[in-house]
Amino acid sequence: MKKDTYIIKGRVLHFIDEPDTTPENAYEYYKTGALVVEDGKIAFCGEASDAVSRYPTYNIVDRSNKLIIPGLIDTHMHYPQTEMIGAYGEQLLEWLETYTFPTERKFSDKAYAKDVSDRFIAECLRNGTTTAMVFGTIHPESVDAFFEVSDSYNMRNICGKVLMDRNAPDYLLDTDLDTAKKQTEDLIHRWHNKGRQLYAVTPRFTPTCTPEMMTVAKELMDTAPDLYMHSHLSENKGECAWVAELEPEATDYLDAYDRYGLVGPRSVFAHGIHLSEREYKRLAETGAAIAHSPTSNLFLGSGLWNKKACQEHGVRAGLASDVGAGTSFSQLQTLNEAYKIQQLQGEKLSAFQSFYFATLGSAKSIYLDDKIGNFEEGKEADFIILDNSGTELMDYRQSHCKTLEEELFVLGTIGDDRSIKETYVMGVCVYDKDQGFRRPPVELKAVS
Ligand code: GUN
Ligand code: ZN
Repeated sequence: MKKDTYIIKGRVLHFIDEPDTTPENAYEYYKTGALVVEDGKIAFCGEASDAVSRYPTYNIVDRSNKLIIPGLIDTHMHYPQTEMIGAYGEQLLEWLETYTFPTERKFSDKAYAKDVSDRFIAECLRNGTTTAMVFGTIHPESVDAFFEVSDSYNMRNICGKVLMDRNAPDYLLDTDLDTAKKQTEDLIHRWHNKGRQLYAVTPRFTPTCTPEMMTVAKELMDTAPDLYMHSHLSENKGECAWVAELEPEATDYLDAYDRYGLVGPRSVFAHGIHLSEREYKRLAETGAAIAHSPTSNLFLGSGLWNKKACQEHGVRAGLASDVGAGTSFSQLQTLNEAYKIQQLQGEKLSAFQSFYFATLGSAKSIYLDDKIGNFEEGKEADFIILDNSGTELMDYRQSHCKTLEEELFVLGTIGDDRSIKETYVMGVCVYDKDQGFRRPPVELKAVS
């Protein structure tokens, strides 16, 4: 039997709709459930007894009583900032100058970039994140390094070379637009849709991109189908005021991208905190998405994201750690802070909405819900096994939970990497808390 074809038993939970809008039919939960994985894809999700009778010859991996959910999705991260997570004392613009730019300079060195990519992807998998949308640096080497590691695990990740040609140190500027364009075209050619890899054209943000660079970004978007556009929007009030000075003809910050044709489906903007009514409407009508980054927004003192306004306007939104301004790789910890951000505004983030947000909701925001995000037949088998007894406190607290909803809420409040027992990518267990990391092809373990 092939190694990525088997039945895995456990308490299976996945979302088929948004709990806030469809509370009755948003999820399926099988207490004695199973997934059938065939050639790395989901063939069946339901009761274990049905799985076994329909696929009697398949090996069984027994994780009974453990919660099995889709792999977590992180819609905005900066892998080169892994080494500077938790840098003291600044808000966005000073933080970029003081810590970020000097760090990103190092990624012209491919070997350095490879080492950090290895560490970053290991951290993602240790935390149950199976797909991430990721900034490289301006150096093409940084993107090659990232995709090489991502591809070696067969992960579905999105990355791109940062474009910037103003308001950064000389050592971190694309001085020649033709070169930046050619480098990006080559990367798109090498990596976009190679295996599970996807490319994002990545103009850093308006302050570091001239109108000419934005025009190049749009030309690049037109070179291949299904490319992503990945940038930042309205994170910090000082930044917003600066954009208004730099782009006086733009109606607002979003229009500073829209004028160049950069707002549409698969455009993903981190933050989106200080937005006008017009900007919410425009984001919704174009199908662009906000990547909500709670730990980052609190850490840099940027502001409180308005979930309600996004939902009321129908703006797509995904969950994001924004490492290294974000302070944790754990999407469980990201949910913990997301909840508090809503509390501070008198709003709720329910347990079910939280886990939808971290899985199918994020997949929808980046237009990958036809491939990942839940366990519908034919989807790619990226999933995680949760461990409710990651610490003595977690175990003790969970022993007092009476419902699935309570269990999830506690997981999304005190959970972290210690709550992740195993991480599977295309049906292959690539991380096991006890045994560490394994790149495919690997042997199936614990087959009964
Ligand atoms: N805006 C432009 N660049 C960055 C970055 O690296 N991190 C964050 N949080 N915001 C940005
Ligand atoms: Zn960012």
